[in-house]
Amino acid sequence: MNEFYKCAICGKIVKVIAEGKGELVCCGQPMSQLSNFKGVNEVLDFAIEKEEEARQFYLEWAEKLESKALRDQFLLFAGEENKHKEKLQRVKSGSTFKPAAKQVTDLKIVDYLVDISPTPDMDYQEALIVAMRREKASFKFYSDLAAISQDGGLRETFLALAQEEAKHKLRLETEYEKEIYSEN
Ligand SMILES: [Fe+2]
Ligand SMILES: [Fe+2]
Repeated sequence: MNEFYKCAICGKIVKVIAEGKGELVCCGQPMSQLSNFKGVNEVLDFAIEKEEEARQFYLEWAEKLESKALRDQFLLFAGEENKHKEKLQRVKSGSTFKPAAKQVTDLKIVDYLVDISPTPDMDYQEALIVAMRREKASFKFYSDLAAISQDGGLRETFLALAQEEAKHKLRLETEYEKEIYSEN
């Protein structure tokens, strides 16, 4: 077991050596779990998992939303997140290119998690906000991965994915603005 926690205020990092109940607190705030990637495969696995999660999110909400336009948009996004997943799987299997195996990365997963979760009674605007935050987190995730990638092929893949997530975010923002203005 290698659980690490980090204080967002003073930066102290704590390692858990025995499991227990209760929350770790530092500087008056709960500490957040810090998970460090160890290598390319772990990074890719995490990204593949995130893409699958994004795909599920859009599929699920596409069914629940009333607006046909937004439903179509979400279905389209689900398809694109699936393509991202497949792209990452191809990289992992080495069929597109083989990333330098020894690369070690140090990325704090906790920075890329979306802090608000969807609720069943979420309305149209809230669904857009959650989706925008997700896309923003994805964009940041891939941009940071690109920045720390030593492998050229890997860097390009992450940059391309960052751009696609930025496009998703922009499309959602446009939709959100339309929605706000149509109300007033
Ligand atoms: Fe994606
Ligand atoms: Fe996306």
